[in-house]
Amino acid sequence: MQETDKDIFEKDAKDYLPVFNRYKIVLDHGEGAYLWDNNGKKYLDFLGGIAVNVLGHDYEPLVTAISEQAKKLIHCSNLYYTQPQADAAAKLVELSGLDKAFFGNSGAEANEGAIKIARKYAHQFDPEKSQIITAWDSFHGRTIATLTATGQPKYHEGFGPLPDGFEYVHYNDIEELESMMSEKTAAVMLETIQGEGGVYTPEDNYLKKVRALCDKYHALLIFDEIQAGIGRSGKFFAYEKYGV
Ligand SMILES: Cc1ncc(COP(=O)(O)O)c(C=O)c1O
Repeated sequence: MQETDKDIFEKDAKDYLPVFNRYKIVLDHGEGAYLWDNNGKKYLDFLGGIAVNVLGHDYEPLVTAISEQAKKLIHCSNLYYTQPQADAAAKLVELSGLDKAFFGNSGAEANEGAIKIARKYAHQFDPEKSQIITAWDSFHGRTIATLTATGQPKYHEGFGPLPDGFEYVHYNDIEELESMMSEKTAAVMLETIQGEGGVYTPEDNYLKKVRALCDKYHALLIFDEIQAGIGRSGKFFAYEKYGV
């Protein structure tokens, strides 16, 4: 039986741990770029699951692929091999031009993995090469390390002590970045296009200059494309637009 909005709000308030402020709308289903709520009201979906549903709702090839796979194997842990996983990694490597694909459960986990890879790589040269530089107004996730990487103090409040080694620069300010970098820099981590901060694009050659500074100090450059990637900028990855 379809419950009313009131029933759902009451049930939710009793049992669901609130971590976001939400609109008082109970969504039921979608089709393409449209959504319908519990009362049959239609909406144009400008949010796309916070920029996740790039193919829209109820897209038949996607629904078929997911349901066909669910009929075969729903999950098998990473202790075994599967063909879809190998195929997906090969596709991502081909599209990115990078060497390997890591699968995570969320953007935060991807960034957490990137931070760990950068630190582990840097530590072989110098255990103190651990500085991670990120931008003010960035958003990188809600785990302890990624909220520390997030350059917005409001996300840090109440969670201290935070992990050491994170410092912030103003996005697009190459002089400030240069003044903070040294051989102790393990990585610079930026959204290729800032999302949560207000959709800020990189100024001319900013990212190329960031790349050059990373090369100079043997630091890794991490692009967080959780929001800007997978076609949303017009290229598959947004960094392709900026020649980096
Ligand atoms: C740029 C960016 N990085 C990371 C994240 C975190 O992703 P997730 O919510 O999947 O952990 C987000 C989420 O909006 C994001 O916009």
